[in-house]
Amino acid sequence: MSECFLVTGGTGYIGSHVCALLLAAGRDVVILDDLSNSSADVPERLESISGRKPLFYCGDVRDAARLAEIVSAHKPEYVLHFAGLKAVGESGRNPLAYYDVNVGGTITLLRVLQRYGIRRFVFSSSATVYAPDAVMPLTEESPLGPYNPYGRTKYTVERVLLDLAAGDPSWRVALLRYFNPVGAHASGLLGEKPQGEPNNLMPRLCAAAAGATPPLTVFGTDYPTRDGSGVRDYLHVTDLALGHLRAVERLEQAAGVHTYNLGTGTGLSVLELIAAFQAAVGIAAPWTACPRRAGDLAEYYSSPAKAERELGWKAEKTAEDMCRDAWAFYLKAGCARNPDGESK
Ligand code: NAD
Ligand code: WQD
Repeated sequence: MSECFLVTGGTGYIGSHVCALLLAAGRDVVILDDLSNSSADVPERLESISGRKPLFYCGDVRDAARLAEIVSAHKPEYVLHFAGLKAVGESGRNPLAYYDVNVGGTITLLRVLQRYGIRRFVFSSSATVYAPDAVMPLTEESPLGPYNPYGRTKYTVERVLLDLAAGDPSWRVALLRYFNPVGAHASGLLGEKPQGEPNNLMPRLCAAAAGATPPLTVFGTDYPTRDGSGVRDYLHVTDLALGHLRAVERLEQAAGVHTYNLGTGTGLSVLELIAAFQAAVGIAAPWTACPRRAGDLAEYYSSPAKAERELGWKAEKTAEDMCRDAWAFYLKAGCARNPDGESK
């Protein structure tokens, strides 16, 4: 393959890792990102990793004219759509923004792609599309029933894509349901560096271990789990990125819509992740037990069997790898401070 890939949200956490792999594999990469949650220096970082620079366009995925300009100029073979808003709590406080960007933005993008005859599409979906009472492990056939506005935007886009492909069988679509991506690129140049306060566990764990914040708040130690803390399926972002390349290869072979869980298949508790962090980097992150966080589930993890069977993809990296790489990125990027030097 020497096709051109349009990657929306390509300077973000997951998208940048996928771009690194695509560039290293000799593909042409065009990024569209509005930089609302990422840094303008990511294209240069990608060049220093892979020796090749992506083309970068700053723009909003809801801007049809901007999209048409980019798509008509580059005629991408594939579109990998990462751009979107992803904070569950914020989606409850500002659902219109989430529907606007995640659903409206995707529809605008799909309209432009349809106009230019581009019908190969990989979508960043989420484990949050599954029903909260689904039996573990979650398979792609588990009941759906998102329980927050963010999850409902992902579910809605999945439905749109299914309907689109049902009406026009020339569409080839991968719906990738990510579990809990953590970790960073081995170079230490790419990682999770949100513009505001981090919500997710790993960046908070790093900040607490560094002494940059008060001790980590463990949200719930009274869940019906092995040790009382919440259990998730953490997977290394590099493994997750590789899953996208395997999904593209699958779309080469098969038309229609293909849904895959991308996870390790193993649940890890918050306290187990803290222990893995200590084993990996030698620091016992301080933590305090706190009440459960509203909206959290006790436990969820994937069955990644379908991805292994059909994509030949399996997450390989360990919890220690995830912690070590997240910590290396934290130290290198100075994650207690944002790119403008303002303290977080
Ligand atoms: P991220 O915030 O790091 O990356 C998203 C990128 O999209 C950012 O660079 C941001 O600037 C950009 N963006 C946001 N709104 C935009 C807009 N209107 N126009 C153009 N660009 C815009 O997030 P991520 O963790 O890399 O997530 C990527 C995708 O994967 C998202 O769609 C997210 O919902 C999904 N996802 C993430 C996780 C996770 O835990 N990180 C889990 C499941 C699914
Ligand atoms: C993980 C565990 C917390 C912070 C979210 C989205 C999901 C997906 C990934 C986008 C939970 C506990 C956390 C802290 C803690 N994103 N925790 N102290 O909530 O599983 O999933 O991100 O699609 O859709 O919902 O991830 O990293 O926030 O939490 O104890 O300071 O860590 O309670 O058990 P979550 P998380």
